[in-house]
Amino acid sequence: MKKFQKLIIVGAMFALPSVSYSVGISNAELSATTCFMCHGPEGKYVGGTIPPLAGYPESVMVTQLKAIKSGARKSTVMQRHIKGYSDAEIEELAKYFSSLKP
Ligand code: HEC
Repeated sequence: MKKFQKLIIVGAMFALPSVSYSVGISNAELSATTCFMCHGPEGKYVGGTIPPLAGYPESVMVTQLKAIKSGARKSTVMQRHIKGYSDAEIEELAKYFSSLKP
């Protein structure tokens, strides 16, 4: 049952952004949809141990993500993911997530 619920959540996340593409969204918003897969849709908490990102303080997120990227902060999957982003993209993502309502 749990697995099934997760499938629905992931499915919904792929379905929703496709609607907004036509309206025109920023690169940060587009990249953020890949974060939603693990951190919850719109960065909202869905249970489990992965921290939610909506309303996350911008400067703290930049610091955390750069530390994870460099390996200064140990992580499981997060480093593999964030390595694909430039520092400028990290800053854009942090700004976007801090603007979301938790
Ligand atoms: C594959 C799942 C996955 C994806 C995709 C993912 N994350 Fe993470 N994230 C994690 C996990 C798990 C952690 C906890 C650290 C660890 O074990 O790697 C984490 C930790 C973090 C943290 C540190 C939070 C804290 O308070 O300690 C931030 C910030 C973060 N992620 C942002 C992002 C952003 C931004 C994206 C999209 C670009 C993203 N994550 C995509 C799984 C993911």
